[in-house]
Amino acid sequence: MKKTILLLPLLINISSYAHAIPLEVLHWWTAPGEHEAQQILKNALLAQDIAWQNFAIIGEGGESAIRVLQMRALSGNPPDAAQIKGPDIGEWAKVGMLEEIGKVVDTRPWKAIMSQIARDTVTFDGHYMAVPINVHRVNWLWLNKKIFTELNLSIPTTWDDFFITADKIRDAGYLPLAHGGTVWQDALLFESMAISLLGADKYKKAFVMHDEKILNSAEMIAVFKKFKRLNSYTSQDLIGKDWFNAAHLIATDKAAMQFMGDWAKGMWTASGKVAMVDYMCVEVPETRNIFSYNIDSFVLFQKYNYQARNNVQSVFVDTLLSKKFQAEFNISKGSIPIRNDIDMSQFDACSQKSYADFNSYQLVPSFTQNLATTSHLQNIIAQILSNYFNDPQADATNTVKRLSLAIRAVK
Ligand code: BGC
Repeated sequence: MKKTILLLPLLINISSYAHAIPLEVLHWWTAPGEHEAQQILKNALLAQDIAWQNFAIIGEGGESAIRVLQMRALSGNPPDAAQIKGPDIGEWAKVGMLEEIGKVVDTRPWKAIMSQIARDTVTFDGHYMAVPINVHRVNWLWLNKKIFTELNLSIPTTWDDFFITADKIRDAGYLPLAHGGTVWQDALLFESMAISLLGADKYKKAFVMHDEKILNSAEMIAVFKKFKRLNSYTSQDLIGKDWFNAAHLIATDKAAMQFMGDWAKGMWTASGKVAMVDYMCVEVPETRNIFSYNIDSFVLFQKYNYQARNNVQSVFVDTLLSKKFQAEFNISKGSIPIRNDIDMSQFDACSQKSYADFNSYQLVPSFTQNLATTSHLQNIIAQILSNYFNDPQADATNTVKRLSLAIRAVK
């Protein structure tokens, strides 16, 4: 008797979801924190009778995911939806494989609930070709609270302060910079420094417009030189390790600082760490009121008659943009909602600062997160930055020349 009672809720669950329509989604949310956020998405869809079919490809920044997607699409078998962002949306739209979002849901209310930047990011040729879901801030510096308190360190606000602080941390036996030595993370480190040293306008000229004068300038050479200095504060043990391996050292009080987007916060939240109690979010030194943004979005592939399949596409888009989902998902992911009408008091102090800054700072698209160029060009740029960072013999002036030539060749 007891057994039957215990099994009853389970049976009800299974039978009510047996007819759920499958929706295959490609993404690269496989790290701790990302996984929890993805579960929230999966459950929200299941409540609407959509069964999320996981097509997850491991790999920072989604480089491998995009490659696998290209192969699937070329063989005429794309998934239903995919995590594609920034200018890549346009590349997919050009080949005519994407569903226009305006044909799936009524997008007229988007103007009132989303910033212009968010809307522009998913617009191609005047049409919405993806649904944006959040805003991640990339130019953050994260500090371990325990180490900073124990060593009585103040928050570094200039690069000079930063290097002095890093020396003190090293002298005390802690790792100054939690940094996994991968191409993607090396490039992210460079981006943080470039934004702060060049300022918003020159950063955009160089990495969005690819202006050769700025790319080849003495200021750019200075950025490269300072970038290289960061190398001596990282650990050889982390070469080839993912960002979350590095973030784990912040969570376990072994490393004191990390430059990373706020998806790292999603990971710390998942492991029970609390913003401003266990770790602090501060601006990258000399950040000059700049916010480098990364907007996650999903595209829908044209595949079959979705109306005949319970309008699975429109339910997907509506779920992603619902107020309840926007709050729950973004609290877990570490990002801020894409909607501007969500109660931010339920978010932590770092997200509240991110939200305020997003609405008042100068916004620049993060090139390392594919918001400024296609992933193809971004991967080439990142490789050049990473080779330079890891080669003690590499020279800043030559690398700057190589970078601008490579950009000219690929564009
Ligand atoms: C994505 C984030 C993700 C991060 C790390 C970024 O490019 O936009 O959603 O958490 O990569 O995987």
